[in-house]
Amino acid sequence: MDTTKIREKFKSLYGTEGALYTSPGRINLIGEHTDYNAGFVLPGAIDKAMYCEIKPNGTNKVRAYALDLGESTEFGLEENDLPAKSWAKYIFGVCREMIKRGAKVEGFDTVFSGDVPLGAGMSSSAALESCFGFAINDQYNLGFDRFELAKIGQATEHNYVGVKCGIMDQFASCFGKEGSLIRLDCRSLEYEYVPFNPKGYRLVLVNTCVAHELASSAYNKRRESCEAVAAAIRKHHPEVEFLRDANLDMLKEVANEVSAEDYIRAEFVIEEVQRLLDACEALKAGDYETVGKKMYETHIGLSRKYEVSCPELDYLNDIARVCGVTGSRVMGGGFGGCTINLVKDELHDAFIERAMNSYEQKFKIKPKVYDVVIKDGARKLS
Ligand code: GLA
Repeated sequence: MDTTKIREKFKSLYGTEGALYTSPGRINLIGEHTDYNAGFVLPGAIDKAMYCEIKPNGTNKVRAYALDLGESTEFGLEENDLPAKSWAKYIFGVCREMIKRGAKVEGFDTVFSGDVPLGAGMSSSAALESCFGFAINDQYNLGFDRFELAKIGQATEHNYVGVKCGIMDQFASCFGKEGSLIRLDCRSLEYEYVPFNPKGYRLVLVNTCVAHELASSAYNKRRESCEAVAAAIRKHHPEVEFLRDANLDMLKEVANEVSAEDYIRAEFVIEEVQRLLDACEALKAGDYETVGKKMYETHIGLSRKYEVSCPELDYLNDIARVCGVTGSRVMGGGFGGCTINLVKDELHDAFIERAMNSYEQKFKIKPKVYDVVIKDGARKLS
């Protein structure tokens, strides 16, 4: 993205120049709603990111300008200074989480902008948190490593935004590496870069351009279901801390102790943890047909068992299947946003054309398409 407009705005608002930082959004090939169950995920950072220019201003106030919205705000850094604007809560939260960890963060001026589509399941909010986390850490020499920066972003969601998310999005934004996916163990935070160059295939996102309301409360509810089932299983099997530690037999044992809804949610998660491991094996062997099959299975699970899909996403998934796309599924938290599709080179254009046309005809909304390019994570630009 061209950062000239950020530069110009910064100069005109604050009469000086700051430093530029960026942090990207992410895709996730497979392993959905597994992160907060201490399972594995397989994300990668993408070529769509948030960008900020920032400079300490010698006061105890932050002055921030959201270029894409044309909105500005000012806030202090005490706990009760929580700004009203929702986008400012992310910046405030990052500062507060750093301060809570003993850091000395003071006032700064900033302008930010980005090209991560909002509500598309590509983690624009994690990109924003990681961008400011990385920038503030660097400007004030705070010495947080990337692990801590990812946790600071996640804690911002928990404590200042109200979404009890896992670590995947912030981790991918902080640790992304060009050309590689990240196989992350969300319990130990051990990770491995998995070079992703599927010869003969392309990864493409199709954005439903719908973002259903209540997504964050439904998300938190899914997490509660998982924790309730893990607690029930733990009574019989003390070694089970998270659903990642459970298997389907253990789940069956507690069928009468948990609600039917919680049961089916947990079933999805336990299956998904295994599905990711299977997909990783297939990936290593270059077996993309199996990877694709697993992606479809994930979609069915997310749609019918975890119930985080929606008619628009299911429709795009059906079209992918009909077009012979190798793998397709809803990506991210769900309730709107994108499907991620693994499609053979020669089928790509026909699939996209058909998906665009039929979707628009049915829902009267023009979907958006993004070819996935895997890029580096958070960094300084100037
Ligand atoms: C959102 C959350 C992540 C993860 C995904 C689902 O993106 O922020 O932590 O739980 O949903 O896999």
